[in-house]
Amino acid sequence: MSIQWFPGHMHLTRKAIAERVKAIDVVVEMLDARLPGSSANPLMAELTSSRPTLKVLNKQDMADPERTALWLAHYNAQPQTRALGLDASHTAPARALIDACFELAPLRGGMVKPMRVLICGIPNVGKSTLINTLKGKRAAKTGDEAGVTRSESRIALADDFYLYDTPGMLWPRIVVPESGFNLAASGAVGRNAYDDKEVAWELLAKLKTDYPRLLDARYQLGLSSEAVAAAAEEDLLDAIGRQRGALAAGGKVNGQKAAELLIADFRALHIGRITLETPAQFDTWLRAGLAADRESDARKHGLREKGHIKPAKKTSAAPTPKRAAR
Ligand code: G4P
Repeated sequence: MSIQWFPGHMHLTRKAIAERVKAIDVVVEMLDARLPGSSANPLMAELTSSRPTLKVLNKQDMADPERTALWLAHYNAQPQTRALGLDASHTAPARALIDACFELAPLRGGMVKPMRVLICGIPNVGKSTLINTLKGKRAAKTGDEAGVTRSESRIALADDFYLYDTPGMLWPRIVVPESGFNLAASGAVGRNAYDDKEVAWELLAKLKTDYPRLLDARYQLGLSSEAVAAAAEEDLLDAIGRQRGALAAGGKVNGQKAAELLIADFRALHIGRITLETPAQFDTWLRAGLAADRESDARKHGLREKGHIKPAKKTSAAPTPKRAAR
């Protein structure tokens, strides 16, 4: 799926963030717990790679708890990294967040060396909600700082703890096709950037194997898990459309409407708590995506002919262009 979503002002944001990172002790990276790998901004990772990072898996109330545990363990095993799960029902998340930051940068603290934290996350990940909860009554917004970016603000969570908010930043190109679909399903990508039916098919491809019981219960398919897993995505969408009354003239299923209903059900938690990727799956997708990207770069620059780069190996989990023909 090709998504054009890196408007010009993002380049300025990128510059401002690079400048700000120089005087930052910890980066708080907000991720969507339903798609932690796909909601991580690779551009941000590049800009902040020199700093310890707290991964906040937000919206954990919507995610599969078992998979959230996998992701937390995965991140907590990485150097200079801590991870915690969070959702909007936590009315006082500041303590856990502050403690985790001091664990990551133990030499900071006190008025002379206050903790300086940069918070970032893709649009819709719940950053404003968290910041508003954090602000509460105690914390004061201290306003914009000259020379950084007009939209960046500093929030004092304690006398020696400052949180710098950044505008949500996207990245120029999605190299992992599965991430594009997962971001679209979650609602992080604007509707103009994707095709509902394609996203619904990809969503069904995951749900039918990973969450067949939830799918069956929500849409009363009356099928065993094996039968759900074996069904074609088109047939499942058809059955869902019939069950939800998404019919066109003549009693045929309106595929577009059925796709919209499925995506809306997923976002509204009507199917259940679902996580679209595990660390192992995402790792496989990322490797395949990067290999395909390198290959495409090599083709563009004619390096292949010179023998500088070998063709990328195809892995069994490599994204397949199966939707192209439909
Ligand atoms: P952003 O600043 O990162 O763009 O995200 P924002 O806080 O605006 O949150 C985006 C949407 O996600 C909001 O819903 C918000 O209520 C919801 N949200 C934030 N945190 C959580 C969470 O932990 N769990 C769940 N389930 N939802 C969360 P909305 O429908 O866009 O707005 P509204 O109906 O809440 O006004």
